[in-house]
Amino acid sequence: MLYPVVWQNNSVLLIDQTRLPGEYAVVEIHRSADMAEAIRTMIVRGAPAIGVAAAYGMYLGAREIETSDRTEFLNGLEKVAQLLRSTRPTAVNLFWAIGRMMQTAYETLGTITEIQQTLLETAQTINAEDIQTCQAIGDHGFRALPKTPEKLIILTHCNAGALATAGYGTALGVVRSAWREGRLARVFADETRPRLQGAKLTAWECVQEGIPVTVITDNMAAHCMKQGLIDAVVVGADRIAANGDTANKIGTYSLAIVAKAHNVPFFVAAPVSTIDFTLAEGSQIPIEERHPSEIYQVGETIITPSGVEYYNPAFDVTPANLITAIITENGAFSPGDLVKCQNNS
Ligand code: MRU
Repeated sequence: MLYPVVWQNNSVLLIDQTRLPGEYAVVEIHRSADMAEAIRTMIVRGAPAIGVAAAYGMYLGAREIETSDRTEFLNGLEKVAQLLRSTRPTAVNLFWAIGRMMQTAYETLGTITEIQQTLLETAQTINAEDIQTCQAIGDHGFRALPKTPEKLIILTHCNAGALATAGYGTALGVVRSAWREGRLARVFADETRPRLQGAKLTAWECVQEGIPVTVITDNMAAHCMKQGLIDAVVVGADRIAANGDTANKIGTYSLAIVAKAHNVPFFVAAPVSTIDFTLAEGSQIPIEERHPSEIYQVGETIITPSGVEYYNPAFDVTPANLITAIITENGAFSPGDLVKCQNNS
């Protein structure tokens, strides 16, 4: 299996997702500031994966603080948390993981060395839990898929695979489980402009596992659905509001509208930690805006004329009424029923 974030020999190893599929490179992270930069520049990306990376970043920051005074240590750790929180605004898993690490620090009594050790163990627990969570999402997910045809064609957007989590994936976790159970014919992967996570990462993951995959450009989805080529859409999520409105990679919203127009079921697969019960609805979710070069530059080539303006939101919000079900590690829920997913197991 593919693990994008690994704790090894006192440092964190990240698969450099900016270089795939051309090059498989591993980056070694020793310091919290380098982890923050790796998250900001998308060496590590995908909501659950940046949560796990940030948890290790908190530990790296904790071991950089040289003091035996508890208050001084906790103040120093708050600064590390602030730095990591400032990297990317939309994926709530980042804030969730940092919050869990801070809570661990406040609740652990003992010497600074003991608190640091507990923080490392907590980061490792968050890492291990995420893999189990994704496997549970995958297994609940394939059962929620349409019963016919026997072998489904699933369209997905962006990369919600092993690379975007601690391993196995959310939307691609559902795909993996469906493949294992003989319920999958093929994946259609949207290329996902502007950063092409679908064409580069989802396609690469499928190829690694021998899952048949067809890459299409984002503007081909409606045509494919009209031709009856797609049986279900399964996507991941960066943050889900309490009412089920879901922020995910830009382009997800238009895909959901197109799916509704063609009667194709539209599933969101995400861990409970991606649900932000503090936000009543999707309009409250902060949307990251990234540098315009992601639009005007392809490789080394500038593709637009000078004198134009750019708008580059990295995520959009799909209204709950376009979502067939939200698949979590605790089962599949109607978007209006999300409160139940906290208690089920
Ligand atoms: O900007 P990215 O590549 O971090 O965005 C990732 C996505 O939008 C994924 O679909 C989402 O995080 C779900 S990952 C399991």
